[in-house]
Parts: sequence; structure tokens; C-alpha cells
Amino acid sequence: MRYISVFPIVAILCILFGSAFTGLVIAPGVASDVVRAPSVGLVAYSPSEAKGRKIYAREGCVYCHSQQVRNVKADENLVAAFGVSKAGDYFYDLPHFLGTSRQGPDLSNEGRVWRREIGAPARDYLIGHFINPRQYNPNSIMPAFDYLSTQELSDLTDYIQSLGAWKDNVKVAAAGL
Ligand code: HEC
Repeated sequence: MRYISVFPIVAILCILFGSAFTGLVIAPGVASDVVRAPSVGLVAYSPSEAKGRKIYAREGCVYCHSQQVRNVKADENLVAAFGVSKAGDYFYDLPHFLGTSRQGPDLSNEGRVWRREIGAPARDYLIGHFINPRQYNPNSIMPAFDYLSTQELSDLTDYIQSLGAWKDNVKVAAAGL
């Protein structure tokens, strides 16, 4: 019977596993450019915003909406209006909802569009749109989330209105107002 030494096989497997572990687990952990701080002005989610965020995840909003403005040609209008997203913007997001597809608009600055300061009209619009998008946009392909409870719709709206809203507070503070 021929004798096959297992030592080279084990050694090769150890080297492969060791280098994969170093490159994929250890190196990213010690990399100096990993962002470990929130963007200036970013605030943690309030309890209702955090609940709304869970609803956003559960209902699959992320499959149609991105939350990321990139420094690319396709995003130039978003960049002009809102600026480029930064790693620290997602400090409190686990998992993050960057998204991979835009069937609907990017929502990373939606709280600056439907600002809290507008009051009831902004909330009513968002809630009405969640319940029946076609009422506002006849060609919309967004599903009607009319089965959500009043509380869930309210939490979801709190979350959507928080998106990017903190960026405007930073500007106000910087202007000394
Ligand atoms: C099948 C894809 C799809 C899904 C899933 C989806 N949306 Fe949309 N959404 C759209 C499209 C398309 C638009 C743009 C047309 C419109 O206004 O309805 C839109 C628009 C919006 C807007 C902008 C409204 C405005 O006029 O400013 C908000 C906010 C929004 N969606 C939130 C959500 C939330 C929250 C969820 C999950 C509960 C969700 N969407 C799920 C496709 C989707």
C-alpha cells in the first residue's frame, strides 16, 4: 500500500486558513482608516425612530430605496443638493441600509425634504403616501402599506423624518444661530 503523507495537505490548509483569517478578520479590525466615530451632529435614534427603523427593515423598504449619496456622475444632482454620504453617517446603523437599487428615490436625506419643522402637513403626507402611494403618484410602483397599525405608521414616519435631518442642525450651529 502506498503511503500518503497528510502533513503537506494539513500544512497547506493551515496556511490558507491563516492567511484568509489575517486578511479578512484581523487586518480590517486594525486598519487605521476604519471610522469609529459618528459624523459631527449625528444623533442616536429616539425610541420611536428605532422602532420605525425595524419596520423599515421588516417591510423591505431597503430593496427599493438606497440611503447613500455617492460621488459619481449618476448622483450629481443628489450631491449638489445634499452632499456625499460619509462613513460616520451610519455610526448608529446596524445593519446599515445603503441599499443596492433605486426603484424609488434615495432616502438618506428624506428628513430634510419632509422636515419636522413643517409639522402636520409633512407627517400627513408621508403617512398618506405609505398607506396609498398611488393617491399622490398614480404611476408609483411602491406597495401600499395600509396594513400597518397607526402606531407603526407613526414610528416609521419618525424614522424617515430623522434621515439626514441632523445635517441641517449642524449647519445652523455652525452659523451660530
Ligand atoms: C417596490 C419598490 C418599493 C418599496 C418596497 C418601497 N418603496 Fe418607497 N417608493 C418607491 C417608488 C417607486 C417611489 C417614487 C414614487 C412615489 O412617490 O410613490 C417611492 C417613494 C417613497 C418615498 C418618497 C415620497 C415622496 O414623495 O417624497 C418615501 C418616503 C418612501 N418611498 C418610503 C418607503 C418606505 C418607508 C418603504 C417601506 C415601508 C418603501 N418606501 C417601500 C418604491 C418602493
